[in-house]
Amino acid sequence: MTSFASVDDVAARLAEVGYLADRRLATTVFLQAELGKPVLLEGPAGVGKTELAKALAAATGRRLLRLQCYEGQDETKALYDWDYGKQMLYTQLLREKIGAIVEDAGDLREAVDRISAQDSVFFSERFLAARPLLEAVRSPEPVVLLVDEVDRADEALEAVLLEMLAEQQVSVPELGTFTAAHPPYVVLTSNNTRDLSAALKRRCLHLFLDYPSAARELDIIRSKKTGLADALAGHLVDVVRGLRGLGLRKPPSISETIDWARTLAVLGATELEPGLLEDTISVVAKYEKDVERAAAALPKLVAGEEVAAENEGAALRGERDRPGRHGPGYYGEKQQPAPGDEHGRVRQVSTSQGARSFTANLGRPRRA
Ligand SMILES: Nc1ncnc2c1ncn2[C@@H]1O[C@H](COP(=O)(O)OP(=O)(O)O)[C@@H](O)[C@H]1O
Ligand SMILES: [Mg+2]
Repeated sequence: MTSFASVDDVAARLAEVGYLADRRLATTVFLQAELGKPVLLEGPAGVGKTELAKALAAATGRRLLRLQCYEGQDETKALYDWDYGKQMLYTQLLREKIGAIVEDAGDLREAVDRISAQDSVFFSERFLAARPLLEAVRSPEPVVLLVDEVDRADEALEAVLLEMLAEQQVSVPELGTFTAAHPPYVVLTSNNTRDLSAALKRRCLHLFLDYPSAARELDIIRSKKTGLADALAGHLVDVVRGLRGLGLRKPPSISETIDWARTLAVLGATELEPGLLEDTISVVAKYEKDVERAAAALPKLVAGEEVAAENEGAALRGERDRPGRHGPGYYGEKQQPAPGDEHGRVRQVSTSQGARSFTANLGRPRRA
């Protein structure tokens, strides 16, 4: 069984594979399966965005295909490429055969014509290197396609992605069009380092995934069998939530709570004692400033007292979270980058990017 019977069924089957989803997330997953729409998860690092795609694959028995996005990535890493090394190897091994083809050619032009008549041999499926997007539509069995950290991808790649999501097909000019036999479950994640295009958001079921409630985070910690007693784990979750409220540059995520629980269990903690937490604070705070501030706040947090947030960390994060590198209008709203603003500058995209695309769509506007 691959599709889901109900929202509860989603939650139960994800839980079976170790992923604890809240109601809103389970509903979104149910809808994506029913409506065949991609899910776009935005939120801070470490709240379970990537993990959801893995859990969805495990829960439905689907193979997981992952496209990890990064700046400067082009279509040859996302759609497909030709296996140049294999082509070269074959031409080496077949040197004599190829020699025979051009042997009695009258001149260079004729030799080239004869070789190019053999193109279809070398630009055939045998030499096609499918990347995750093509692999997802070409797969004979249903898959989960994870497009991870899509906010790092460039505009050209985002356009390619949009087309693939809209058409559920990929065209390779030399071979034809591949259409998905089974629409993949698509999960896109974004760490919010920039805004995504309005068109992409429109196409997806969009969900902002934030840090979990205290109860759910405790459930997650318990489910990971960290070895820390439940009462201590509950207390630890409260302390971590307090740390998140400090406005640190990198607030601790769920994985860090898990790591901290494991660390404390290994050290045989029987109570949450500020000194012990301070000794292990580097498990959850990753910048020197954060370590200092977190350590200073620990006694109060352990005692359950409020600690006022400082804005320094938030400002630093804000710095990174400025609208991305695309031009005005890209985000579906008027947005004017400051003059000389490095992040606001429109990035130059090479003309070859976007060429390897969807012949079925040629001539049509790329985005609505
Ligand atoms: N809902 C959840 N249920 C179980 N584990 C979770 C959940 N959310 C996060 N985790 C844990 O937190 C870790 C980090 O999550 P991850 O998906 O990598 O974060 P990100 O949002 O940055 O992609 C996971 O490896 C997993 O152990
Ligand atoms: Mg991730």
